[in-house]
Amino acid sequence: MGQPRFSQDDLRRAFGTFLTGVTVVTTRDGAGTPCGMTANSFTSVSLDPPLVLVCIGKRSSNIDAFRATASFAVNILGQDQAGVAAVFASRGADRFAGVDCREVATGAPILEDCLSWFDCRLHQRVDAGDHLILIGEVQEFGVSLSEPLGFCGGRFISLGEAARHRVEA
Ligand SMILES: Cc1cc2nc3c(=O)[nH]c(=O)nc-3n(C[C@H](O)[C@H](O)[C@H](O)COP(=O)(O)O)c2cc1C
Repeated sequence: MGQPRFSQDDLRRAFGTFLTGVTVVTTRDGAGTPCGMTANSFTSVSLDPPLVLVCIGKRSSNIDAFRATASFAVNILGQDQAGVAAVFASRGADRFAGVDCREVATGAPILEDCLSWFDCRLHQRVDAGDHLILIGEVQEFGVSLSEPLGFCGGRFISLGEAARHRVEA
């Protein structure tokens, strides 16, 4: 294969023009310790069966836990949770110190006060370049009417307009 005609930095910036929400993906390692990281690669995949996916970087400090896990949860963050997103993206931070969590179906940590959440049993693991794609089958989910946190161009943004549209729809 030839060399790509673009740099990874330019490609990352181009990917970053895609406006997304922000999630914290959680699981437990082999010892039962909670693990989690901020991720905007969440995608809804299928209604029947109910599937979602998230992409986990292979260089993540949590990769071993995510590689081995049989379950994970996707916690979608609300507009006032940029601080939570920052903590769960920071190396060395005690990520779970400032959040309250509970277990629902699988035991993966569900963050209290998030916008919505999906508690998933692992459906399929796909090796994809420098990321691992986790496809999960939703076992339980919860939704609130708070406004979503957005991410675009490397910045957290407010999506109040989108939330109003959602409530009216
Ligand atoms: C808004 C945002 C979205 C992110 N999305 C992802 C993602 O989808 N997948 C991923 O592997 N890392 C993502 N990251 C990076 C991780 O949150 C984390 O910073 C990185 O993996 C380093 O920490 P770790 O080694 O403990 O995982 C994202 C970071 C931010 C701030």
